[in-house]
Amino acid sequence: MEALLEKASQIVCSLGEFVRQERRRLKIDEKGFANFVTNIDIEVQNRLHDGLGRLMPNAVFVSEESDVHEWDGQRPAWIIDPIDGTTNMIHGYPHVAISVAYIDGADRFGIVYNPFNGELFTAISGHGAYLGTERISVSENARMEQTIIGFGLPYNRYLARTMFRAAEKVYETCQDMKRKGSAALDLCYVAAGRLDGYFEVDLNIWDFAAGGIILEEAGGTVTDWFGEPVIPHRRKADVASSNGKIHPSLLSLIQSTIE
Ligand code: IPD
Ligand code: CA
Ligand code: CA
Repeated sequence: MEALLEKASQIVCSLGEFVRQERRRLKIDEKGFANFVTNIDIEVQNRLHDGLGRLMPNAVFVSEESDVHEWDGQRPAWIIDPIDGTTNMIHGYPHVAISVAYIDGADRFGIVYNPFNGELFTAISGHGAYLGTERISVSENARMEQTIIGFGLPYNRYLARTMFRAAEKVYETCQDMKRKGSAALDLCYVAAGRLDGYFEVDLNIWDFAAGGIILEEAGGTVTDWFGEPVIPHRRKADVASSNGKIHPSLLSLIQSTIE
């Protein structure tokens, strides 16, 4: 697994220069209201399929900008969000990630790379989580009043009401909240102790697979809003994640807002 992670990370990081350069001549299409895809999303995905496909010809791809999103869990799979934070990228807000998970039964790893600041988060199941070469772990904060909590907002404006209700409730108890616009990075920020928790409704597996593996390896907890595990089998989930210590509090706050 170490050798495969190393080669896959090289492929991911080699796309950083392309993303930074190509951002100056973006071609943008709208998939739905305020939901965009660019030539960078497509080209990064193509290049990942090409490079990673050569590493493991037997593995399937579950990638956001592809037509095929189903996976039976029987064969090894690459779970890919070529650009997580497309809206940020379009606006030049440098909080963007290439997110790649590899899942072969219990053997898993995650790679989350921000091409704009060079931060590379990685983890292999059972071997801890890393930012670059530094081992990372979740925060020690055990009380909500000690925490900063991240959250996300779905493209579906109707579902956003669920998020705002939950966020308002959580905000009554914590120090601050952040909506940064990349689910993969939010999960990694919890892994690195920069955030104490993060939650969002209606995420896709490519949003949370790599970051979720990294967070679990950093000692954190990733579940749905009812405490059920989401990795690796959930194609979609309302995700709640934390340093583990505040997980029961975070879940009960969120659950108290569900109508
Ligand atoms: C989005 C980002 C954002 C989250 C959205 C995601 P995309 O991914 O992760 O933070 O709030 O729910 O869809 O569309 O930029 O890949
Ligand atoms: Ca995404
Ligand atoms: Ca994306």
